[in-house]
Amino acid sequence: MLVRSPENAAIIYLQFLLFYMSVLPERYTVTAALPYANGPVHIGHLAGVYLPADIYVRYLRSAGRDVKFICGSDEHGVPITIRAQKEGVTPQQVVDKYHALIRDSFKDFNVSFDVYSRTSSATHAEVSSGFFTKLNDAGQFIEQTTQQYFDEKAQQFLADRYIVGTCPNCGNENAYGDQCERCGTSLSPTELINPRSMLSGAQPVLRDTKHWFLPLDQYEPWLREWIIEGHKSDWKTNVYGQCKSWIDQGLHPRAVTRDLDWGVPVPVPGAEGKVLYVWFDAPIGYISATKEAFPHEWELYWKDAGSKLVHFIGKDNIVFHCIIFPVMLKAHGEFILPDNVPANEFLNLEGDKISTSRNWAVWLHEYLADFPGQADVLRYVLCANAPETKDNDFTWKDFQARNNNELVATLGNFVNRAAVLTHKFFEGKVPELGELTPIEQDAFAQLSEFPAKVGELIENYRFRDALAEVINLARLGNKYLAETQPWHLIKTDAVRTGTVLNVSLQIAAALAPLLEPFLPESAQKLAAMLNIELGNWTSAGRPDALAAGHQLQEAALLFAKIEDAVVETQVQKLLDTKKENQLANTPVTPAKDDVSFDDFGQMDLRIGTITAAEKVAKTKKLLKLTVDLGLEERTIVSGIAEYFIPEALIGQQVQVLLNLAPREIKGIKSQGMLLMAENADGSLALMQPSVPVRNGSSVA
Ligand code: 2FM
Ligand code: ZN
Repeated sequence: MLVRSPENAAIIYLQFLLFYMSVLPERYTVTAALPYANGPVHIGHLAGVYLPADIYVRYLRSAGRDVKFICGSDEHGVPITIRAQKEGVTPQQVVDKYHALIRDSFKDFNVSFDVYSRTSSATHAEVSSGFFTKLNDAGQFIEQTTQQYFDEKAQQFLADRYIVGTCPNCGNENAYGDQCERCGTSLSPTELINPRSMLSGAQPVLRDTKHWFLPLDQYEPWLREWIIEGHKSDWKTNVYGQCKSWIDQGLHPRAVTRDLDWGVPVPVPGAEGKVLYVWFDAPIGYISATKEAFPHEWELYWKDAGSKLVHFIGKDNIVFHCIIFPVMLKAHGEFILPDNVPANEFLNLEGDKISTSRNWAVWLHEYLADFPGQADVLRYVLCANAPETKDNDFTWKDFQARNNNELVATLGNFVNRAAVLTHKFFEGKVPELGELTPIEQDAFAQLSEFPAKVGELIENYRFRDALAEVINLARLGNKYLAETQPWHLIKTDAVRTGTVLNVSLQIAAALAPLLEPFLPESAQKLAAMLNIELGNWTSAGRPDALAAGHQLQEAALLFAKIEDAVVETQVQKLLDTKKENQLANTPVTPAKDDVSFDDFGQMDLRIGTITAAEKVAKTKKLLKLTVDLGLEERTIVSGIAEYFIPEALIGQQVQVLLNLAPREIKGIKSQGMLLMAENADGSLALMQPSVPVRNGSSVA
């Protein structure tokens, strides 16, 4: 076994440097999936794509690598036009609104893109049309006329999502043209029974239309070699498995154009009214964003063999980034191919799938409104619980526990104790490092191993494990303090206490750069507290990062405890959403049979004011009410006790059916009936005039 000593530590550190310098790519092009600008971003986006990408990039920068981090909004396609239709605005208004919201959320969470562009930019139109033209001129497409549904009223072809009808599988009357959301079956529009257009409600007709197809089938042998043979061991199992299964099922030509009026026009004469398919133009968006931000260098990052291209995406994007986009790049011929596509699985929320349409999400902008200045806490929890190998669940209880136990009690506590004790015993100056006992030697040796260990995990896209190692370094610090007890030691041995605090502060100093990719704000705070530059990865873990005599700044708390009430409010917010969804999904009771005007006229409906209200003894549901109806006061027994406090009803005007035959209920004669509105969950609301009216007024 390797003996741990400062000398060995230095050797290990040098080996680590040499190893990485020998195998390094010249530069990195790191992309994060372009989010659709049709809604805000939530914790699932951050955990699945943007946080791991940001950690990777921050680490690379800290390690001195040349890297460009590319992203932007995906502003084309049916997801945008559907949202515009729902909100009653234009697609341009939709993308303007959500592009700004998404961009700001990423900025607030310190996702450090080198460029955050948008696919509605002029550069993108030029780059994506140029890409299409190059493939078209090289005869890389198949042109084919097929039949598609056309809405004669709206005078347009219908995207699959714009057609609804009855699912042939489960009978759901509102299945979409591409999928039935009730039974999950994937469909094609012609399989729907009784199809109708979502635009006009009309029954669509089939019409001929010409499109351009990318012959994926022709690339099958190459994909087998490149992915199935070439990336078996370095791509994540989930990514590799999905690709293999796609390829094994057999690939087919895929249309890269659409009949739609929102998108990049197909740059071919006679293709009026057609645009590039959003999944053709969006990944080219990575290239155009790089070109837009770095007009002189962009080609190096996309065309030079020394560049390593890495796509961070969610699992629903695997086929597009591992098969379709690489085929496009290969067909074009000038571009490099992705070296890796570290896709994550999905994050659920409190046991349920995150869903924009059901508002089942923790929205990033709402989180920051409720937890100002605490972006790092969410970054921490989402990385510690990232869905790297399987779907994971975010719960507010876990959020609280991780903050209180790991950030506050482990990391914050260690750093705080080291700084506070140094202020208390040594006026905030780093004390001299005296003689090292085996405990210190071991601590330094372990410390020196952390940068390589954490770095290697990050380079292998194992961000959860990497973060756990950083917390282990804080644990090492806590263990060292617990073993040496400087707060007692000071009474007998000031010199040794100085050594102990020096060692503790060196550990704290190493934590700053190692934390930075994960928790950039906290790392900055820690560096400020230690009065040092953040430092970079390659110099982290040195035993002499802080010189004796170096003055620290005031000690501050890096993290604050989160109380029960705070997370209970968040849980309540979700429970309210659940209730709203339940209400929205409960069908309205069908209409009853018609009644004649005369029948209706038989009912004597009046407005009255409740003057007294009390519970009927030994019942749960009944209230005895006295209602002033202008001509007389009446007693009415009503089954509303579960929804109203009797005192709160006094003085309220209500609607009463006056001539309902009197009934005896629990020994009380009830003369009339209160009219109520009944909600889907059974809760009741009073039917009241919008302004006070005279008691006894008729309702007609
Ligand atoms: O799934 C999505 O949100 C897509 N907008 C991702 C596009 S990634 C890329 F190709 F641009
Ligand atoms: Zn179905």
